[in-house]
Amino acid sequence: MTTLLHSSIKLGTLHLPNRIIMAPLTRMRAPESVPTDLMATYYSQRASAGLIISEATPISPQGVGYPATPGIWNQQQIEAWQKITTAAHEKKGRMVLQLWHVGRISHPDFHDGDLPVAPSAIMPNGQAITPTGMKPFVTPRALVLEEIPGIVEDYRQAAKNALAAGFDGVEIHSANGYLLDQFLRDGTNQRTDNYGGSLENRARLLLEVTTAVIEVCGAGRVGIRLSPSGTFNDMADSNPEAIFVYLLTELSHFNLAYLHIVDALEGDIRHGAKVITLDVLRKAYKGNLIVCGGYNQVRGEAVLAEGMADAVAFGQLYIANPDLVERFQHHAPLNVPDATTFYGGDERGYIDYPNFAG
Ligand SMILES: Cc1cc2nc3c(=O)[nH]c(=O)nc-3n(C[C@H](O)[C@H](O)[C@H](O)COP(=O)(O)O)c2cc1C
Repeated sequence: MTTLLHSSIKLGTLHLPNRIIMAPLTRMRAPESVPTDLMATYYSQRASAGLIISEATPISPQGVGYPATPGIWNQQQIEAWQKITTAAHEKKGRMVLQLWHVGRISHPDFHDGDLPVAPSAIMPNGQAITPTGMKPFVTPRALVLEEIPGIVEDYRQAAKNALAAGFDGVEIHSANGYLLDQFLRDGTNQRTDNYGGSLENRARLLLEVTTAVIEVCGAGRVGIRLSPSGTFNDMADSNPEAIFVYLLTELSHFNLAYLHIVDALEGDIRHGAKVITLDVLRKAYKGNLIVCGGYNQVRGEAVLAEGMADAVAFGQLYIANPDLVERFQHHAPLNVPDATTFYGGDERGYIDYPNFAG
């Protein structure tokens, strides 16, 4: 019997054989910001996913905030990614690149001593992961108005580079407290120009980036990730439902491949998140929705059966189960992810999780 998770779907121009999506997962195994051959093995092991969304990938040196994250701003990186997309395609997979600018979630150590940039000079609580260990965040520098077109251009160029590297499309990372999310919310955006204040102004940068990226890729190859209930990276908003319902209504006009929603996670609820339920988001957005956050096979089937989503992304389960599609098909036991090898390190906890022996 074909389960809903195993049924095919078209997301924009992407034809997916199933609705089991590999969530974007930062693994910090790309020294000098260049993707490696080990990454080609890792991603191609997971090619039976309906869609692979790459780990978050900085669009520019300014967009970097974690060690050993692979970039997409120079030719060496493009060529290294090419090996990865080729490996995934040879295994009949589909793969999009997640475009990332961390904004204030960075540290001067990544920028030759310069401050990280943000919509406003508001310091996040917490610590940055630098190449030499954890260090307290600093107060970022507010981007001046004249710099914003350059940020949009960095996204446009990164999208071009992603296509040159053989990706089937891109996902704009506007979730989890990074730059575009920082612009959306009034806890981090206190600008008084056209990019702050009203809902329209706070959504402006993401909509401009979306337009630029669509000009490069076509809307059918573009997805966007949002975390409307997220508090990760010290995020807050006085009325998240207002900004996200406004944004989803606007994004409905773009005919995107998909919108990708990170549900409220336990940590968000612990941090007092104002949870926006999926039915509110489903109503506001006209288009394909991928959901993510704490799903297993049973919850994934249920969210599809209820009509609340069109596909489901799995994060931790994909770290530990390269053949997740086949395991779900056979109701096979799942490998358990080892959190000590999530970030950084070598092939251990990366490409050595076994397939189901049957
Ligand atoms: C090790 C790790 C790395 C992650 N890296 C990213 C990332 O690069 N981009 C992103 O949007 N989310 C990232 N996330 C969040 C996941 O995509 C996902 O939303 C989260 O793990 C919840 O889904 P799950 O319960 O299925 O794991 C990461 C999560 C983990 C555990």
